[in-house]
Amino acid sequence: MRAIVLVGGEGTRLRPLTLCVPKAVVPVVNRPMMFYILNWLKSHGISEVVLSACYKPAMLKKVIGSSYRGMKIDYIYEASPLGTGGAVKRAEKYIDGTTVVMNGDILTSLDLSKMLKFHREKKSRATIALTPVSNPSAYGVVETGRGGNVLKFLEKPSPEEVAGKVLNINAGVYIIEPGMVALMKAGKVYSIERDIFPKFIGAGFFGFVSRNIYWMDVGTVAKYAKACRDILEGSYRVKGLETAGKGVKLGKGARAVKPFSIGAGTVVGDNSVIGELSVLGKNCIIGKNCMVERAILWDNVKIGDNCVLSDCVLAGGVKVGASSFISGETVLGEGTVLAPYSRLRG
Ligand code: GTP
Repeated sequence: MRAIVLVGGEGTRLRPLTLCVPKAVVPVVNRPMMFYILNWLKSHGISEVVLSACYKPAMLKKVIGSSYRGMKIDYIYEASPLGTGGAVKRAEKYIDGTTVVMNGDILTSLDLSKMLKFHREKKSRATIALTPVSNPSAYGVVETGRGGNVLKFLEKPSPEEVAGKVLNINAGVYIIEPGMVALMKAGKVYSIERDIFPKFIGAGFFGFVSRNIYWMDVGTVAKYAKACRDILEGSYRVKGLETAGKGVKLGKGARAVKPFSIGAGTVVGDNSVIGELSVLGKNCIIGKNCMVERAILWDNVKIGDNCVLSDCVLAGGVKVGASSFISGETVLGEGTVLAPYSRLRG
C-alpha cells in the first residue's frame, strides 16, 4: 500500500530552525523527523511513500533518498504551495486505490492497521484519524455520530467555545479512495481540512477515534522540544535509539546524566556536565566546565569553556563564546555566532 506524506510547508512556526532545513528533516533526537514517520508507516505495511514537496525539495531528497528500509520513496513537487488539498490532487496518479495521506510533522503511535480495517469495514470514501485533546483550540475539531460518521468540522475554535472540553481533533492522518481527488481541479489551491473534507460530510466520510495513543504535531518549537523529551523519556517509544554515537569522548571529570543522546564524534570537555534530557548532535565540541541541561544542539555546534545552557535549541554550526549563559527557551538559527559572555533568555 502507498502513503502520500505532505511535506511542502515552510514550517514558519518552527523558524528559525526551518530557515535552512525543511521541517521533515529537522533532527528529532539526532534523526530526521521523517525517519520516525517512515518507520511508523513501514510497521503498518506501507511499502511505497510519495513525498509531496515544495519548500527546499533538494535538501529533502538528499537526506531521505529514494528508498528507506526497503520502502520505495518517490517525490512530487509544487512550484508554489498548493495547500494540503491541492497537493493531494497533484499526487493523483499515485492514488490508484486505498491510499494513506498524512501531514509530514506527526509523531504518533496510532494504530494505522486498525484504522485501515475500520475504513474497509465502513466502506468509507475517506476516513480521518481523530484523537481527543483537552485544549483543542489550536486544532480542527471533528464531531462524529454513533457509527463514526463525520457530522461537523470546526477549524481552530475559539478558546471560549471549547473551554474545559475534551474534544476529538483531526490527527492529520487520512485514508482516502481515488474518488475524492476526482472532485478537485488540478493546479488549484485547496485546504484538505477546510475545502475538501466538509464536502464529504454525509457521503461516506468517517472518523476513526484513537484514545491513549502518543500523538504530537511538531509544529512549534515548544512541541518540537516536547517531542524530543518524550522520545528520551520513552513516552513516545522508538526502537534503536542511540545514547552515544561512535567516537563520543567525555573529558576528565565530565559526565552525562541519562536520559540523553549524543551524536557521533562529539567531544565534551573536562568537568562538563551533560544534564538529563539533553540532545547533542554529531561532531559538537563542548568546552570545559560547561553545564548543559534540557538543551537540544544540532550537528557541529561549538560551545566555549564555562558556559551554561538550559532549555534551548541551537541549530547546526552555532558557535557560543566562552562564559556564555543561554536559557529560557532560546532558539538560535543555523550558524549563529555569539561572543564570549553572551547572556540570552528566550
Ligand atoms: P507552518 O508554516 O508553521 O504552519 O507550517 P507548515 O505549513 O509546514 O505546516 P502545517 O501544519 O500548516 O501543514 C501540515 C502539513 O502539510 C505539513 O507537513 C506541511 O509540510 C504540509 N503542507 C502544508 N502546506 C502544504 C502545501 O501547500 N503543499 C504541500 N505539498 N504540503 C503542505
